[in-house]
Amino acid sequence: MSNRMWGGRFQQGPDAIMEEINASIDFDKALAAQDIAGSKAHAMMLARQGIISDDDAAKIVQGLDTIASEIAAGKFAYSRALEDIHMNIEARLKDLIGEPAGRLHTARSRNDQVATDFKLWVRDAIDDIDRQIHTLLTALATIAEQHAGTIMPGFTHLQSAQPITFGHHCLAYVEMLARDRGRFADARRRLNESPLGAAALAGTAYPIDRQMTAQALGFDRPAANSLDAVSDRDFAMEALAAASICAIHLSRFAEELVIWSTAQFNFVRLSDKFSTGSSIMPQKRNPDAAELVRAKAGRIVGALNALMMVMKGLPLAYSKDMQEDKEQLFDALPSLSLSLAALTGMIKDMEPVEESMLAAAGAAFSTATDLADWLVREAGLPFRDAHHVTGRIVAEAAGRGVSLDELPLDVMQAVHPSISEDVFSVLSVQASVQSRRSFGGTAPENVRAAAADWLERLASDAPNA
Ligand code: ARG
Repeated sequence: MSNRMWGGRFQQGPDAIMEEINASIDFDKALAAQDIAGSKAHAMMLARQGIISDDDAAKIVQGLDTIASEIAAGKFAYSRALEDIHMNIEARLKDLIGEPAGRLHTARSRNDQVATDFKLWVRDAIDDIDRQIHTLLTALATIAEQHAGTIMPGFTHLQSAQPITFGHHCLAYVEMLARDRGRFADARRRLNESPLGAAALAGTAYPIDRQMTAQALGFDRPAANSLDAVSDRDFAMEALAAASICAIHLSRFAEELVIWSTAQFNFVRLSDKFSTGSSIMPQKRNPDAAELVRAKAGRIVGALNALMMVMKGLPLAYSKDMQEDKEQLFDALPSLSLSLAALTGMIKDMEPVEESMLAAAGAAFSTATDLADWLVREAGLPFRDAHHVTGRIVAEAAGRGVSLDELPLDVMQAVHPSISEDVFSVLSVQASVQSRRSFGGTAPENVRAAAADWLERLASDAPNA
C-alpha cells in the first residue's frame, strides 16, 4: 500500500528497509506537544485569514486537544508506516474529525513544521538548562561565601603553585558557568524566529499571517527568508556548542572532585548519596557521579560534531539528512541537564576537609613567590635576582626537609645578607592569601565581596520557574 499522506503518484509501498531508514517516529514523537501547539496556531491563523472556515478550525483544534490527551494517557498508537510525528498526528486527526483534518496542511509543509517544532523543543530545553545553571551558580557562590577564608593549594601543572582560598576556586567556576548561561541566552535570542509559514521552501500564495503564528508560539518574529527558515539548523548547532562548552566546564570540575576525594588529597568528602561502593573492595568509596559527569562531555561534544558533519555541504533548502538532527539534541541536552543536576547535588552535599587543604597549601614551598616579592619590595632587588635568591633558599629548605617559614634566619641571610626577621611576616600561607588583594585576586576579603556580589546578581536575575 502506498503512503496515504503523500502516495498519490506511487504504485508500491516502501521496502521494509526503506521504512526503517526513513521513519523518524521512534524518536520524533518527543515533538508531539510542540507539533500540536504549532498546528493549533496554524489552524487558528488559517481561519482568521479566511483560508479555512472557523468551524473547521474549531474542529481541528478540538481534535488536536483530544490527541494531546491520548498521548498524555499513553493511548496514542504510533505508526512507523506514517513515518514521523507530523503525519502520525495528522492521520489520527483524520480518524477523529474526518474531512476538516485535510485542511490543516494548507499553506504549510513538513519542512517549516519540523523546523518550528524542533525550535520550540530546543527553546524549552535551553530554558530548563538556564534554570539549572542558575541553581548550580547559586550553590557555588554560597559555598564560596562560606569558604572565602578556607586556604587550599592553588595548582599549575597540577603542582602546588601558590596558596589560594577554596572560595576563590569555587568562584572560578561561577565565572565559567555564568558565561555558559550567557551563551545559551544568546543562542535562544537568535533561535527565536518562527519558521512557520515558510512552507516547503518558497513561501506560499495563500494570504497567511506569519506574525500571528509567530506571536502565538512565543517567537519574537517570523524568520525573514523562507529558504533559510526551513534549512537553518544553526540554532541546533549553537545550542550544542553552548552545551559542549558547559559540559567541558562541568567535566573539569568533576575531575577536580575525583582528585580531591582521593585518600591522597582528601580535600573533600563526597556524601554517600553521590558515591558508590566496590563489589570486591569493602573500603572503597568511588566518585561515580563525578566520573560520569566527566564522561558525559564526550557524548555532548560528539553530538555537536555529528550534527555539524550532517549539515556540512548540504545544499539549500531542506534535505532529509536534516532528520538526523534530532537524536543528537534529544541525547545531548538531557545529558547536560542530568550532569548539572548531579554536580549540583554533589557539591551541595560535599564536605570540604579544611585541615587537609591547609596542610597541603603550606607544602611544597608554596610561599616562595611571597619571599621573592619581599626581596623586591624590602631589599630593592630586581625580580629576576629575587627569583634566583629565592630558588637557593628553597633548595636550602628542601635539603633540610623543612618549610620556608621553618628555615632559620641565618641560613637565609647566608644566601642574601639583606634578609631580616620581617621576612617571616610573608612566609605563612595566611599572609600569602591575605596579601593578594589585587582586583580578582584570592584574598579572603576579595572573595567574600565577590561571592556576595554574585549572590546578589543571581537573586535579581533568577529565571522564571
Ligand atoms: N521527519 C522529517 C524530519 O525530521 C520531517 C520533514 C520531512 N520533510 C520532507 N520533505 N520529507 O526532517
